Order: sequence, then C-alpha cells, then structure tokens
Amino acid sequence: MSKRTPAYWKGTNVVLDVGWGDNGKGKFVDIGSQYADLVVRWAGGPNAGHTINNEFGEFKFHLMPSGIFNSLCVLGDTVIIDPDILIGEIDELNLRGFPINESNLLISADASLIFDWHKRRDVLSEAARGGKMIGTTGRGIGPTYADRTDRTGLKIHHLYEPDFEKRLMREFVWQTRMTKLMEGKTHIGNLSREDFEGISPHAFNQMVRKSIGNGPYDFEKMYDRLTIARERLEPMVKNVFPIIQKVHRDGGNLLGEGAQGALLDLDLGTTPYVTSSHPTMAGFSIATGINANEVRNVYGVTRAYGARVGEGPFPTELEDETGEYIRKVGKEYGTTTGRPRRCGWFDAIITKYSVRVSGATKVALTKLDVLDELDEIKICIGYKVDGQRYDADTLPTIKPRFLYRAKPIYETMPGWEQKTSEVRSFGDLPLKAQKYALRIEDLLSTPIKFVSVGPEREATIVR
Ligand code: GDP
Ligand code: IMO
Ligand code: MG
Repeated sequence: MSKRTPAYWKGTNVVLDVGWGDNGKGKFVDIGSQYADLVVRWAGGPNAGHTINNEFGEFKFHLMPSGIFNSLCVLGDTVIIDPDILIGEIDELNLRGFPINESNLLISADASLIFDWHKRRDVLSEAARGGKMIGTTGRGIGPTYADRTDRTGLKIHHLYEPDFEKRLMREFVWQTRMTKLMEGKTHIGNLSREDFEGISPHAFNQMVRKSIGNGPYDFEKMYDRLTIARERLEPMVKNVFPIIQKVHRDGGNLLGEGAQGALLDLDLGTTPYVTSSHPTMAGFSIATGINANEVRNVYGVTRAYGARVGEGPFPTELEDETGEYIRKVGKEYGTTTGRPRRCGWFDAIITKYSVRVSGATKVALTKLDVLDELDEIKICIGYKVDGQRYDADTLPTIKPRFLYRAKPIYETMPGWEQKTSEVRSFGDLPLKAQKYALRIEDLLSTPIKFVSVGPEREATIVR
C-alpha cells in the first residue's frame, strides 16, 4: 500500500495497550493500518472490544481486526476464535457495505477454536472461585487457552481434515465429562466449609454424583453450525507464517494489532486478575516469529487517566463523584460486556512498569479531552506500603499481594478547563494540558508520539 507513509509507520510496528485494556488501541490501529501492507492481530479472542470511528461510521469489533478498513488483516496463530462471533461480524460488515473475503481477511489455520464448553467452563470456574472472581468476559477465553496449553482442543485446520467429525465427537464426549465434573465442583463449592466436616467418603461420593446431571451440549446443532462456518471461512484460512514473514523481510509495512493490555498479561500482569494470553510485545513475537529487535516502534496506548473493568487491584481507583464524573464523560462502559469501568487517576508507577515490560518505545496518550473540565488533576507518582515508599524503580511486584496494599502518593496539577477536542497540534493545546502531558512523558521516561483528543480518527495530535 505505502501511500505517503509517515516515517513513524514505516516497516514493522506494533500498537499495544499498556494498561488494563480499552485505552483506545482500536483507533490507533485504524490510523496506522492506513499505511500497512499487513495487519496482524495476535492476542485474545472475542473478549476484546475495539471501537473505530472513521469515514465508514462507528464500529465495535471483538474478533474482526481494527485494521480491516485499510489493509489486509490476519488473525494470527495465538488468537482464539469463536466462529459464531466472527461470522456475525463478517455479516455485519457485509450488510454495512464493506465486504469481507480473502482479499482483506486471513485466518491462521493454527488458531484455536472456542466452543460452547469453553464458555460454560469459564462461567463455572468463575462461580467456583466464589468471592475471588476474576470478572472474566464469559467468552470462554481461559478454558480455550488452557486446552491449547494442554496441547488439546481443536484448531481451525481441524475443520478441514477428513476425520473432523470423529475428532469433534471425541472432543464432545471428553468436554461433556469435564463440564459435568465442573458442575459437580461448583455445586460443592457452594456448600460451606462446615458441610464437609464429619462426612463419610460414601456420602461425599453421593453428593458429587447428585450434582452431575445430563450433558449440557447438543452435538447435532453444534455440528450443523460448524459445517456452515467451515464453508464460510475456508477461503480465508491460510498458513499465515510465510505471509507475515514475507512482508516483514521484504521491508513492507507490517502492523501488529494488540488486544487487551500489558497489565492483563498472564504472567507480567496483575495475575490472577488477568486474561490468559500475552498482550505484550513478547506475545507478538510468539505469534509471528518477529522479535523485539526487528520492530521499529512499539506504540504503547494509555489513557490520560486510569481505568479497568473486571476485578483486581487498581490503586488509583476513585470510588467517589470524580470517578463517577470520569466514567460519565469518558463513556467508560465495557465494549464487550457493557459493565461500568472502574475509573481513577493516572498511575505513573504501574504505567512505567507496563511501558517497560510491554516493550513500548513510544506512548499514545488518549482521552485527554475527558479531563477538560476538571479544575485539578492528580498523578500517582509513588506508592506507600506499610509505611515504606516505592517508586517505579523500587517497585517489588505488581501482583495483588503488594498492589492491594499500595496507597497512592499523588502530585496535583491544575486543570486547563478548556476544550481540547478541536486541537490538532501539540503547541495549540492549553499550556496546562501540555504541561500535564509532558509531566507524564517525564515520569514514564518515554516519548509521547500521539495525543488523542476525541474518538474520531482526525482527533489526533502527532508529535
Ligand atoms: P480499545 O479496546 O483499546 O480499542 O478501546 P475501546 O474501544 O474498548 O474503548 C475506548 C473508547 O474510547 C472507545 O469508545 C473510543 O471510541 C473512545 N476513544 C478513543 N480515543 C478517545 C479520545 O481521545 N477521547 C475520547 N473522548 N474517546 C476516545
Ligand atoms: P480490549 O482488547 C478490558 C479483562 C476482563 C477480566 C480479565 C479476564 O478491548 O482492550 P477474560 O474474559 O479475558 O478471561 O477476562 O480480563 N479483559 C479486558 N478488559 N479490555 C479488554 O480487551 C479485555 N479483555 C479481557 O474484564 O478482568
Ligand atoms: Mg476495548
């Protein structure tokens, strides 16, 4: 494609989220993909919700890559696919006059499939966690990745193999058994600790048996749905590795499209309050075989304030009217589940950690306009835990055992109390808004390349 490509979108670049998701990656992928020869999404599945506002209108995608309007897109090996959701999104785009076919969307043959049992196991696991729920999206993410890690489950290429029906039958039986077992576990999990005291092994056995009813899935319906899906998707299914490598090696413009956020990374995030994939640069490398030293820029997207959806630690959360105000003005309701997002001040400590571990080389600061009317704005510049102060360099861990106890230390800056949504150059921002952004840049020790002042593609400042 390469139509007057700005230098900062040339070669292989990655857009990822350095928070707990929803920081506005969709918008930046839409922007970067205008210059891309290939866009590769690598993380998660339909737990994502990416909003795009461009000349075609407003779109909310879960599995469809956000680069779809501008470039050939790939759903990479490590994306997990719910065929019903993907086909729903293809149909919606077709209906809205934007046909999806193998000329704009490719699906990795090695991507794993999400089935009904994964969604059910997701919900059952949450129930079994009792008071320690993760607050998942219920889309079957954890169980699908668990099967993938266990080297089982079905992948896209299995749909096209001669023994598909037999394989699906075997999987069906095994998964029905697993679900029954889990339903038993949930049932027992609902009993109180005292209920287990003094109970005989026989009575316990009976209790478990009682909770295992008939299988919850319908093979015929599932098979019929999959038969339609495999026909619809077939032209798009490819071994994507050589396609990705060719664009990268030939010096084309390749864009990595992140989903979720670095703080939701299975290992680098606030585990266990995370997703089951790797939204960091390391995840992109695993999906594509392209390593960090071969990537020109990793754009780390973060809001100008803090937010997260689901459970887990969030030191700068505001459970007051300011938090409520930010949620309202920022329209902070989940794209996938509609849940209200938790809102708070910008946390420079955890964001610096995240910028480091995610591989971000530059920052895209979004939703600055949401803060336009506040008379003062706080930034978290340290944590206090058990009387001791920590900063980004002395942070021992971001795991809940530490983060739940972290009390934020704030610096207060004056608000600019002016509209920024029409501004298109950094120098035209109110001085106090410039100072706020520059303070964030300084605290993160990473240059801010983009500032976003509205959901639209044009509402973007490039530095
Ligand atoms: P993603 O998951 O990172 O792609 O983000 P989501 O789409 O889940 O949520 C981001 C929301 O913020 C969407 O509704 C965007 O349209 C919106 N948005 C993105 N950038 C800006 C911005 O600079 N200002 C405002 N007000 N909204 C923005
Ligand atoms: P995008 O790509 C925000 C969160 C869920 C939950 C945790 C685990 O739109 O930024 P899961 O269903 O993945 O097992 O849920 O991860 N989560 C997200 N939060 N944005 C997302 O995606 C998310 N994907 C998962 O809310 O806390
Ligand atoms: Mg989102």
